[in-house]
Amino acid sequence: MKRWFGFTVQFLVVFLIITGFFISCKQGSKQVETTIQPTPTTSDSIEVKIAALMAKMTLEEKIGQMNQYNGFWDATGPAPSEKKAKLKYAHLRKGLVGAVLNVTGVDKVRKLQEIVVNESRLGIPLLFGFDVIHGYKTITPIPLAEAASWDLPLIEQSARVAAIEASAVGINWTFAPMVDITRDARWGRVMEGAGEDTYLGSKIAVARVKGFQGSDLSAPNTIAACAKHFAGYGFSEAGKDYNTVDVGTSTLYNIIFPPFKAVADSGVATFMNSFNIINGIPSTANKFLQRDILKDKWKYKGFVVSDWGSGLEMIDHGFAKDLKQVAELSANAGSDMDMESYAYVTHLKELVESGKVEMKVIDEAVRRILRLKFELGLFDDPYRYCNLKNEKEQIYHPDHLAFALTMAKSSIVLLKNTNQLLPLNKNQQRIAVIGPLADDKSSPLGNWRLAADDNNAVTAIEGIRKFSSTISYAKGVNLVIGKTSFPEEVKINETDSSGISEAVALAKQSEVVIMVLGEHGLQSGEGRSRSKLDLPGLQQQLLEAVYAVNKNIVLVLMNGRPLALTWADEHIPAIVEAWQPGIQSGNAIAQVLFGEYNPSGKLPMTFPRTVGQVPIYYNHFSTGRPGPKKEVFWSHYIDEVNEPLYPFGFGLSYTNFAYSNLKIDAANATLIKADLTIKNTGQFAGEEVVQLYIRTKTGTVVRPIKELKGFSKVELQPGASKTVSFILTNEELGYYNNDGNFIVEPCEYEVMVGSSSKDIRLKEKFQIDK
Ligand code: BGC
Repeated sequence: MKRWFGFTVQFLVVFLIITGFFISCKQGSKQVETTIQPTPTTSDSIEVKIAALMAKMTLEEKIGQMNQYNGFWDATGPAPSEKKAKLKYAHLRKGLVGAVLNVTGVDKVRKLQEIVVNESRLGIPLLFGFDVIHGYKTITPIPLAEAASWDLPLIEQSARVAAIEASAVGINWTFAPMVDITRDARWGRVMEGAGEDTYLGSKIAVARVKGFQGSDLSAPNTIAACAKHFAGYGFSEAGKDYNTVDVGTSTLYNIIFPPFKAVADSGVATFMNSFNIINGIPSTANKFLQRDILKDKWKYKGFVVSDWGSGLEMIDHGFAKDLKQVAELSANAGSDMDMESYAYVTHLKELVESGKVEMKVIDEAVRRILRLKFELGLFDDPYRYCNLKNEKEQIYHPDHLAFALTMAKSSIVLLKNTNQLLPLNKNQQRIAVIGPLADDKSSPLGNWRLAADDNNAVTAIEGIRKFSSTISYAKGVNLVIGKTSFPEEVKINETDSSGISEAVALAKQSEVVIMVLGEHGLQSGEGRSRSKLDLPGLQQQLLEAVYAVNKNIVLVLMNGRPLALTWADEHIPAIVEAWQPGIQSGNAIAQVLFGEYNPSGKLPMTFPRTVGQVPIYYNHFSTGRPGPKKEVFWSHYIDEVNEPLYPFGFGLSYTNFAYSNLKIDAANATLIKADLTIKNTGQFAGEEVVQLYIRTKTGTVVRPIKELKGFSKVELQPGASKTVSFILTNEELGYYNNDGNFIVEPCEYEVMVGSSSKDIRLKEKFQIDK
């Protein structure tokens, strides 16, 4: 930029603001004239600026924009000497890097940006990407937990808070939201998404994008979002990360695509492709996904970044023979930016020169990438996210910490509460707090907390102590052995049960036992698939030993995926699903346990009874033999029931809600209205997520036994009632047939309204005629 105009960037901005005049840009002997105005810039003027800039770029510089590197840590010191860092540094100075990731902090970001802006020929500013998944420093609940709130404004706000902190440290691009639908709790990355349902998942995806991007990408506290992983990553076989994905047309169009389409329509700035092959083709080289569907059919204007090294991995997939072919196949298939494969920067130039990749492919990719840079305002001020004062003010801002508590409370799901054991009385009971996660300040932060300060979560016991001075604590067993870290496998304690006797002795003398058990925060996430869905290590043994002496147990679960806890459900009177609630964990848990907050979360994913039931999800099809039948020839297991432990949409409250008076008005087939009354019939004020499901009774393609098509979170005082209204348009009623066409079936529809996918309280039917 500096040399492009022959001015410093700062000077240029001032100049432009004052004049808003024409500036002529020289490219060799060719004169390119373009109007440059101060922000906000219209999309038309952005296109003009892109064209002007591209006219000045060499092929190499264009390819440079398509190249993304991971940061190197000596970026702010003297020129690096380590081989890879040295190369990256040289490439930055030559304008051969379009974006970096994992460089954060105002100082570091500024230094790197300065290298590019001041030293490269055209000074095109960098994008700074980072996985801001559930908070930057102020860690909020894991995304699966937030999804359990079913509270779209709160989820949007959560992304907003994350964007405010991230942008304050120089980041302008997050690799979130992950919008992969998944039905397999074994997959470690279920923690990062919104669960199993396409409708809920789409709404949440749009809310998150809105939170990150706001209404103006050029505002200094908004960042570009990235819908990932396109596509099918959540359907990896056997829940094993990076594994093969093989899905039919109907699943692809009706389950996997919709959240991606929803965010593409709502203006998400970027897409990321995925590590997996899908129906035989790696996503990174998948022309059908990236060109035919995303860019052509959905008319998406943003760019697609590869997943980390996913290009290179195509060699291991057995799809590309070498890095050169990786570059050719990926670029031609519409993967615009290469993250850390070195394929584009190494080979694209020769591929263009030999005609294997057309120039228009490069131009199109570069146009998309530059567009985002203009939209972010980076050409107006490449350092717009680099304000030290702002960094200091925003990180751990009291409002963010207060919000993290609200979000964490709303994410908690009450799974069982026999005889109203909960809420507990403040200071009135002798309480034992037991379990390896009760006093853990790290695990509740969950998996994606790359920038978090470790060990800063409020523990369960710290939270509980604020409500009761009559508590004692015993750990019982260690969950993990040794130190944990993001790239390393956690080691689970399978042998040392020496602490159980102390826990049992404590439980014996107590009136109530709060047990805080579950998974370590680093047992879910990328590369962390499990083949079992039990309480890891010796926790089940601990639970049963305590239960043997005191049955008055409140089990608080902290986990990153649905677990199969059939024994606990049969024996333990009260179960609270807290997930990994983030920095405010203990405060949120305690407020729920002591009734200061009435839980309102609902499961965004089915909890199986055994791992053998997986994949298990509510919106399945009916078989031709749904049963039950007396003889064996129906669709079932001989050793387990078909039903899950806890169904999708399930969650209790300290109060009760009565549903009545469902009325359907289907006079207008494209605007069906459903009204019902909901009443709080219990003693506590509370919130209920009213859920509306439909069943399309017959079709050219078989439809699921029910599909969520509306929900509303309603707050009611005891005794109060409200009318809840839903509208069903073609968007809710239709689906994609096997030709990929969106159709609405003329047939009978059933409307089901209830408190979960299983607990249907009201039903009605209507007909749509041809
Ligand atoms: C993950 C992505 C992530 C990227 C960059 C990959 O391993 O699959 O989701 O955004 O790394 O950190």
